[in-house]
Amino acid sequence: MLRITVFPDERALAKQEAGRVAAALAAKPDLVLGLPTGRTPVRLYHELGLLGAHGQVDFSRATTFNLDEFLGIPWSHPGSYRAFMEQHLFSRVNIAAERIHFLDGAALDPDAECRRYDAAVESAGGIDLQLVGIGTNGHIGFNEPARELAGRTHRVTLKASTRRSNAALFGGELASVPSEALSMGMATILHARQIVLLATGKSKARCIERLVKGPLTTKLPASFLQLHRDVELVLDQAAAEFL
Ligand code: F6R
Repeated sequence: MLRITVFPDERALAKQEAGRVAAALAAKPDLVLGLPTGRTPVRLYHELGLLGAHGQVDFSRATTFNLDEFLGIPWSHPGSYRAFMEQHLFSRVNIAAERIHFLDGAALDPDAECRRYDAAVESAGGIDLQLVGIGTNGHIGFNEPARELAGRTHRVTLKASTRRSNAALFGGELASVPSEALSMGMATILHARQIVLLATGKSKARCIERLVKGPLTTKLPASFLQLHRDVELVLDQAAAEFL
């Protein structure tokens, strides 16, 4: 069942969600968290950093798995999602480096890298709390609208719109945005025990409307969240405009 919570603005949303993550970690210190990158979680990560600085959140026993990474660039590349996470969250909380899991975009064998990642999720006992964002085209992770969706972690060709919205990470140069990525698959995401989808801003209002009111369709990968028992959509008013 999709539960929906609407906040007046992004700031209130970020504070509340940082509190949720802190509480989940307090209840289960070895929590396994699935994390997104992108514009949407930046404030949430900022709030978690503030809580971290005041000793109000403890990541010391937590494990994290990020959803996706660009293919063809190493973690040291400033445009990588790994670098993004380091900047916005990992450097600001007391997380243990060895429990940060990331897809390696520079892996020589990308398919083997995907299998390694699924096995790592499995051996961590699965994901307890998966945070996801949503693309304006309805993608989650890098599971783009298509005739078929992949279940497991896999290699994807990015849509032009997705590359455009990531250009800022590459100095605004669209040509520098990798054309492929590695992403958790739909089943990897849907096997998480709890899923929280964050969406803010007017540009997300139509896909949120389709997610809530529309059918299950591979044209809107996020619509498959309707199958999960414990999903919450956490929105600001702009993203909730058409509900
Ligand atoms: C990124 C990811 C993507 C984003 C989505 C929304 O790790 O998984 O699915 O969540 O593209 O991006 P923003 O938040 O920039 O609108």
